Amino acid sequence: MTRAPAPNPRHLLARISLMSLLLAAGAAPTAVQAQTATKLKVGLMLPYTGTFAALGTAIENGFRLQLAETGGKIAGREVEFFKVDDESDPSKATDNVNKLVKRDQVDVLVGTVHSGVAMAMAKVAKDSGTLLIVPNAGADAVTGAMCAPNIFRSSFSNWQPGYAMGEVVAKKGAKKVVTITWKYAAGDESVKGFKEAFEKGGGQVVKELSLPFPGVEFQALLTEIAAAKPDAVYTFFAGGGAVKFVKDYAAAGLKKSIPLYGAGFLTDGTLEAQGDAADGLFTTLHYADSLGTPRDAAFRLAYAKTYKLQPDVYAVQGYDAAQILAIGLNAVKGDVSKKAEFAAAVEKSKIDSPRGLFSLSKAHNPVQDIYLRQVVGKENKLVGVASKALTDPARNCKM
Ligand code: BEZ
Repeated sequence: MTRAPAPNPRHLLARISLMSLLLAAGAAPTAVQAQTATKLKVGLMLPYTGTFAALGTAIENGFRLQLAETGGKIAGREVEFFKVDDESDPSKATDNVNKLVKRDQVDVLVGTVHSGVAMAMAKVAKDSGTLLIVPNAGADAVTGAMCAPNIFRSSFSNWQPGYAMGEVVAKKGAKKVVTITWKYAAGDESVKGFKEAFEKGGGQVVKELSLPFPGVEFQALLTEIAAAKPDAVYTFFAGGGAVKFVKDYAAAGLKKSIPLYGAGFLTDGTLEAQGDAADGLFTTLHYADSLGTPRDAAFRLAYAKTYKLQPDVYAVQGYDAAQILAIGLNAVKGDVSKKAEFAAAVEKSKIDSPRGLFSLSKAHNPVQDIYLRQVVGKENKLVGVASKALTDPARNCKM
């Protein structure tokens, strides 16, 4: 039997003083009034160190920017943040998420970047009933076998950008492809999505190379690629690892002879550090730097003014996590206990994202356009829509 967690003394004090105020004013508060007048506790579980550190910061920046645009409140409730650095370490993930759920008793969890860590968060969210919004990690299971009414994703499934690129590379006429990635859920599932579409389009994945996360010793694998002489290479890397891979691929002389394609994380938030090595690369993702819509232009301007930085896909996903939370909470007037009504409101909404309007599937994963982009200078320039309103198959989601 699971025991209810002990009430947090700070939380209790805040409630008691609020009750005294209401009683002094001659009104006994209802339970909902008491809850919605306290601060909304948002637990941010993100990587602030390691190869994905910059991704975690961009997500938090995006989330805070959206919150600032609504006066620092969600559904009339002020927000109090509780933060944990998950270090992109799945072995610490359950303990880390329980710090937020049991110790801090947060109302909602927002996290994370790494698929393995996100699966541990989804398990705890499912077991405890805590609302979870995933602002990056693409683990297919989060909106597949582990899907739940209280779990939402503002980003993508690993299958989505991979599948879109499989179609692109097949249409380009490549026949034999080698894949290379980190050996963990995100890499495996990205390659699987690519392979599904590429082989449907008549191509063949002739070799699947990998190294453990977050390793960056690429030399031996690059030598294998050179020896295999494929028509193209497909890859999933992100953050610091993506910077090193793109530079090593060019330095090994492969960029000139074997076209490199990737899920867009390969070149998102990384272009300053990659320099010329990234120039000309094609990737697929649900965001690009030059969408040219008024919505995106306003977002980019606000982000640049606030943080003196250009936004990337991670910032967009953090921003949209805050939008999803606001849509759900506004519908229940800030009462997080009304999970079914929260979910119903989010399910029927169109999210007005900088990436373009998107909705959530029944499994709560974005149904969205996947763009084909090409690196030109320091931008992931829009080439076109690779896959319109692409819906993750949500395999094994029973909800
Ligand atoms: C993941 O682990 O799901 C992931 C990490 C970085 C970028 C994209 C996906």
